[in-house]
Parts: sequence; C-alpha cells; structure tokens
Amino acid sequence: MKKALKNIWNWVDDRGGLSELVKPLTTHLVPPESKWNYVWGSATLSCLIIQVVTGIALAFLYQPSADVAYQSLQYIENQAFLGSFIRGLHNWGASGMVLLMGMHMIRVYLFAAYKYPREMSWITGVVLMALTIVMAFTGQLLRWDDNGVWSSVVAAEQMGRIPLIGDSIAHFLMGGENINGETLNRFFSLHVFVIPALLFSFVAYHLFLVFRNGISEPPKVGRYLNPKTYRNWYENMLKEKGVPFFPNAIWRDAVFSALVLIVLVFIAWFVGAPELVGAPDLTNVKVDPKPDWYFTWIFAIFALMPRDIGSYVIMLGPVLTITVLLAVPFLSKGGERSPLKRPWAIGAVAFLIITICGLWYIGDVEPWHPKFDAEPLSEYTTVPEAKPSVQRGINVFNTAGCLYCHKINDQGGIRGPNLTNVQNRLTKEQIIIRIVNGAENMPAYGGSLSKEELEDVVDFLLKDKKGSNPNN
Ligand code: HEC
Repeated sequence: MKKALKNIWNWVDDRGGLSELVKPLTTHLVPPESKWNYVWGSATLSCLIIQVVTGIALAFLYQPSADVAYQSLQYIENQAFLGSFIRGLHNWGASGMVLLMGMHMIRVYLFAAYKYPREMSWITGVVLMALTIVMAFTGQLLRWDDNGVWSSVVAAEQMGRIPLIGDSIAHFLMGGENINGETLNRFFSLHVFVIPALLFSFVAYHLFLVFRNGISEPPKVGRYLNPKTYRNWYENMLKEKGVPFFPNAIWRDAVFSALVLIVLVFIAWFVGAPELVGAPDLTNVKVDPKPDWYFTWIFAIFALMPRDIGSYVIMLGPVLTITVLLAVPFLSKGGERSPLKRPWAIGAVAFLIITICGLWYIGDVEPWHPKFDAEPLSEYTTVPEAKPSVQRGINVFNTAGCLYCHKINDQGGIRGPNLTNVQNRLTKEQIIIRIVNGAENMPAYGGSLSKEELEDVVDFLLKDKKGSNPNN
C-alpha cells in the first residue's frame, strides 16, 4: 500500500513537477526581521480566498435577472443551508479585504518597500487595488436592494459626466440609458467573470514578484538603499542570516489569517449580512442611497462639491489618484527607507486617514444626508391662529419627510433649500410643480401625496404671503 502510494506520487511528481513548483516557494530565504508587519498582504489574500469560496456558493443560487434576483436572495437568506451565514461572510469578507488591503498599502508605503527593485510589486498592487474597488462596487448592485442599486447607479451616472467618453461608459455599464434588467446582467458578468479573471492574474504576478525580488527587509535608520549594489547586498544578507519562508515566516501569516477568519466568521454569524429590505423600485430613483462604508466618503466628496466643479473632479480624481500612486516608486528610487527619516510619508498617511475619516463623518451627517432625526415642527409659531389647513400642512411637512431635507426657521435638515421664506421666492404654482415633480435631489411627491395633503402643505409654505395670508 505504502509502496503503491509512493509509486503514484513518484509518477505524478516526475511527470507533473509538483515538488519543483512548491519546493522553491517553501525553502526560499526571507529576512529574519520581517515579522508581524508583513502579514497584511497574506491576510488580504486570505480574504480574497474567502470571497471566492463564498462567492461561488452564492452564485450557485443567485439569479442575475431583475425579476427574480430578489427572490433568489430571499431563498439564500431564509431557506438555503447556511445561506444567511455565507451571505454574511461574503459581505464582511469584502469589508475585511478592503481594510486589510489598505493596511497592506500603508505598511508598504511607510516602509518604502516600493523602492528598487520592487517597483513592479507596487505597480501591480495599485492595479489590484483598483480591481478590488471595482469588485466591491459591482457587488453592491447584486445585493439588489435600494441602497446597493442606487449607489451603483449614482456612481455610474457620475462616470457619465466624464466629457467625451462618459456617456459611452455609463451606457456600457448600465446596458442602456438607465438602470434596467440588463444592468444587473452586466454587473453580474463583471463581478463573477471579468474582474476575477483579471484579479487572479494580477495576484499571481504580484506573488511571483514577491518571490523573485524577495521580501523587503525592514528599514533601518541610516541604511541607504543603493540600486547599484542592492541586489548583491540583499543576496549576501540572506546567505548570512536569511530564514526559510516555511516554516520560519509563514506561521505568522497563518496565525494572522486564521485570526481574520475567526473574526469574520464571528461577525457573519452574529451580525449577518445587510437585511433584505425589498427589491428596488427601478422607476423611482431613490434620493439617498447609502453606499457601503468604503464608498461613503467618496460620495461625500461628490455631495460637497458644486455640480460644475464636480464633473472635473469625477473625471480627474481617479486619474490623478492612480497616476500619483503609480508615480510613487519613480519619485525616489533609493536612499533612506525608514519612515522615521521620511516624516512627509507619515504626514501623507496621516493626512489621508484624517481626510477619509472626516469625509466619512460628513457623509454620515450633513448636508448630503437627510436629517432623519429632525425634531418635528409642532406648530407654526408666528401665526398661532393659522387656519386649519396650515396646521394640517405642518403635519404633512413632518410626516412626508420634507423636514428631513428642508429647514423651517431653525428646525429640519439642510439637504434642500431653507423653506422659511419660500413664499417670497416662488409662486404657489412653482411650489406645487416642485413638490409634484421633485428635483435633482428631491423625490417627486406627485404620486404619494393626496390632493388635500398637497394643498395643505402648500398653504403652510405660503403662510405669510401677502394676498394669500391664511388668516384672511
Ligand atoms: C431628500 C430630500 C428632500 C425631501 C425629502 C424634500 N425635498 Fe424639497 N427640495 C430638496 C432639494 C435638494 C431641493 C432643491 C432642488 C433644486 O432646486 O435643485 C428642493 C426644493 C424644494 C422646493 C423649492 C425651493 C426653492 O427655494 O427653490 C420646495 C418648495 C420644496 N422642495 C418643497 C418640499 C416639500 C413640500 C417636501 C415634502 C413633501 C419636500 N420638499 C421634500 C430636497 C428634498
């Protein structure tokens, strides 16, 4: 028996060359000081593997077609064996991957590991970052609820604002002028075929580069990197004190990845995936989609920007970001690698983190986001003896959500214009038209308010206007 197994192995290894493939990977030497700071990349990879496994499981049951997608999600969530858990794991795995990828990039940047001879690792890393973001972005829409769908659509429409090619891109992504069943198909194909294929290829090349150029040694203050002598020096350093990757280095990767997996399983089990809140209404644009957390800060930038500047930022922002990132290894090829001697590098990372957290905060509160906890208007204080329709109008204003976006006196949100004195700006007809038809960032109320409610709320908004004073 033992002999037979050995024979089989010998045959497989002789013809297939497995040990030739694996042995150099496990035995290659790594700098002994590369320790816990070096686990972020492998943990990102572990998340990717979780995503692949859970993603395949979900794809078995998910139906990428507009009329049944939501039912198939309900089936996964409520009936399929472990469905809810796997959905949760896929959801949180995505968050984990984005977060760990960010940590990995920050570590590589702070340690200047992108310098000679590892420029290509950095460049493929930037490509991997972009691909990961596209994965997260296309995955959102597959969730097929209001938030996921409209976040993706808003972003696709933002791309439509890129001059010249924007329309074609948006048209291609959405499979038409607007979101429709075809959009789901497009996003599904991108999410499960196109982007993963690219992602795997680049991951493979990225790993090959790590293997070929070696893991960077932790920087030391005063040790300069000289591209002319570096490879030689690195080689000798490894010969002198390098340790084999297996088992001396890989155990840390394994321990940390296991920890990440445990945390993700825990969250997936106890918190679960986002609740299924109903299939999106494709005919009624949701005004305030809330994208997944890793995108809210980008939305906040768009929301804070005046529309006309916005178009340029949308066009230039990603191009500029990618260009700057790609340029990083070319700006300084050698020299000092220690972050302690590169205070501007620490500054840049701190600035980035503070900016993103700040935008997160803004994205979460105002003015982009309606103020859902606004104190309801109780009564219109300046006209205490207002006629009944005005009083009823106040109620409509509270209950129909106008208050979330509009201020009256000092109460309410600031997403839309302050309506305290709207009667001086607009005529009754204009106000009615606006309420019935909505606007760029205001829902159309034509279908949801009754005729009486509409009259009441308009009466309330006109309150003091000369000639239509409700008291006359
Ligand atoms: C989700 C946020 C939101 C909600 C909810 C909302 N609005 Fe608006 N509203 C806006 C925005 C944004 C504008 C500005 C649109 C523009 O001009 O581009 C606006 C404009 C208006 C205007 C025109 C104001 C002016 O000065 O031009 C009126 C009147 C108005 N809304 C009334 C209402 C009423 C009444 C309700 C409730 C039935 C309501 N809105 C609900 C966001 C909202």
